[in-house]
Amino acid sequence: MSSTKRGATRHEADFYSTPEAAFKPLLPFLSCHVKLWEPAWGDGRLVRWMVEAHLDAAGDDLKDGYDFLKDESQRGCIITNPPFSLALEFCNHAISHAPHVFMLLRLNFLASASRRDWWRAHPPSALFILSERPSFAMFIKCHHCGQKFSLPSESERPKQCDKCGGKLAITTSDSTDYAWFYWGGAHNGLHFL
Ligand SMILES: C[S@@+](CC[C@H](N)C(=O)[O-])C[C@H]1O[C@@H](n2cnc3c(N)ncnc32)[C@H](O)[C@@H]1O
Repeated sequence: MSSTKRGATRHEADFYSTPEAAFKPLLPFLSCHVKLWEPAWGDGRLVRWMVEAHLDAAGDDLKDGYDFLKDESQRGCIITNPPFSLALEFCNHAISHAPHVFMLLRLNFLASASRRDWWRAHPPSALFILSERPSFAMFIKCHHCGQKFSLPSESERPKQCDKCGGKLAITTSDSTDYAWFYWGGAHNGLHFL
């Protein structure tokens, strides 16, 4: 998921990597007794952090030729920050392919008339709320021509508008709150990370 934004152009394939601070507090809640599968691993950072924490983790990504939504393998635990535009499809596919699922989602993903029936049928067992709001992207607006776009927060800050050369206003907060949503029998209730 990551990075909703106010009319700005989205980055290709929803590639907004998870900041370390949005993932590491979850590590103590992950079991070393199951194989963890990261089905949209981007640059592989969640897998790297899990392996460093002595967890059994692997993954793949669309950009490496893998399509999670076509993968019918059963997994021990599926964990990812899914692409924003496919978040519900990812949740739905994951919970039918693993007994434990962690998804990083906007908190307000819960409040939606179009998803109400899905949430009623699949309420999460636990929420791990990120008390400190993560920043996934920088949001850029040209003062001169009004062009708006966003870039992953780790990108180099653009110096001027690529369309008109104008001065840019850059912000990194999109005032969106996030949580790791969990489905399964190992955790329940609210956890405040
Ligand atoms: C928001 S980024 C998150 C990357 C990584 N999970 C992380 O936490 O840093 C979403 C990722 O989903 C990948 N993606 C999009 N559609 C996919 C699909 N159908 N199957 C696998 N990966 C997909 C994109 O290539 C991108 O790397």
